[in-house]
Amino acid sequence: MTASVTRLRRDAFSFLLGLGLLVAATIAATGNLTAPASAQTADQPAAESPTEGRVPGNVLGNQADSDFWRAVRQGERGRVSIPDARAGQLIQSEGDNWRAVRNGPVTVYGAWAMLGVIIVLAVFFALRGRIRIDAGPSGTTIERFNMLERTAHWITATSFIVLALTGLNILYGRHVLLPILGPEIFSAITLAGKYAHNFLAFAFMAGVVMIFLLWVRHNIPSRLDLKWLAVGGGLFKKGVHPPAGKFNAGQKLIFWAVVLGGISISLSGLALLFPFEMSFFGTTFAALNIFGLGLPTDLTMMQEMQLSQLWHGVVALILIAIVIGHIYIGSLGMEGAFEAMGSGQVDLNWAKEHHALWVNEMRSGSKPQAAE
Ligand code: HEM
Repeated sequence: MTASVTRLRRDAFSFLLGLGLLVAATIAATGNLTAPASAQTADQPAAESPTEGRVPGNVLGNQADSDFWRAVRQGERGRVSIPDARAGQLIQSEGDNWRAVRNGPVTVYGAWAMLGVIIVLAVFFALRGRIRIDAGPSGTTIERFNMLERTAHWITATSFIVLALTGLNILYGRHVLLPILGPEIFSAITLAGKYAHNFLAFAFMAGVVMIFLLWVRHNIPSRLDLKWLAVGGGLFKKGVHPPAGKFNAGQKLIFWAVVLGGISISLSGLALLFPFEMSFFGTTFAALNIFGLGLPTDLTMMQEMQLSQLWHGVVALILIAIVIGHIYIGSLGMEGAFEAMGSGQVDLNWAKEHHALWVNEMRSGSKPQAAE
């Protein structure tokens, strides 16, 4: 009797417990359960600690803190009420890539390109020596470049050389000059160099426009240029002189490198000089995409700035390497060349050997320029 009463009580207790659990589960499923004190809702203040797996800002979070900050780290943009909308991006991750490319390949390969050209020129000079006037100086001169042409050349050349030296200081100065000069002298030089770089850029642009206008008609590529190139312009063998007009194929290449490279450096330099005002890359990439390149066109202004800086540096380093070769052949490398840009008068035999067609043109033309 007593045993059966006890069993009955136990069965009744189990039944009530099961029923209780069932009711609780039903209420919870229909959402009528009261939230625990720690739960956060839209109208409750945010939890003090951001480590409880919720998004800050009084909202019911469905994103872990780690996901939230990862998105910020990867450049997610938010809204700001101040006028500078760029402040809505806390971290611009492409900056890492920009710095790695600038301080890595651009710096390293740029140095190798310049050093490589100097080594090649030294080897060439050791093997070939100074290229002489084969027939010897005639004693008669012919005007090669007038005052305007020489002015245009030297405006471009002097400004380019200062721009190159001050630009190289920006890239390599801290590795090369800073340890030698110490921080005070180095910073004074670098500050002065920065101003020189900014202002002389305009002289360089003016020079490039002048040489383009003065010389473009002499620099149109022709079939003759291929013949000149096929024999290396006669640079490697004494007595070989392929005919050329006012400018030979090598000089035409220098001309177009200076004009196109100069325009490219100028535009990217202007974008750096007036930050966040110009965006050339998005539009250029869009134009290039007609060749199916799939380049990104929706670039932020910060990305535009980073690309401008890299492009400016890369084109400048290439042009500096080319111009080192030009300076060599226009001075030490070839007898009689410098006078063309010095006094403007070159020896007739030099002119006949290097620019035979131009000499013929000058002599038969309506405006003979030969001078004794
Ligand atoms: C000390 C530096 C330089 C020297 C000694 C020099 C010398 C010369 C000479 C002698 C010529 C005429 C060649 C001829 O008669 O056929 C020339 C032409 C030219 N120079 Fe320079 N130059 C120098 C720097 C520069 C720089 C920095 C640039 C541009 C960034 C430049 C651009 C040109 C161009 C485009 C031509 C016409 C094409 C050519 O002859 O290659 N020069 N230079």
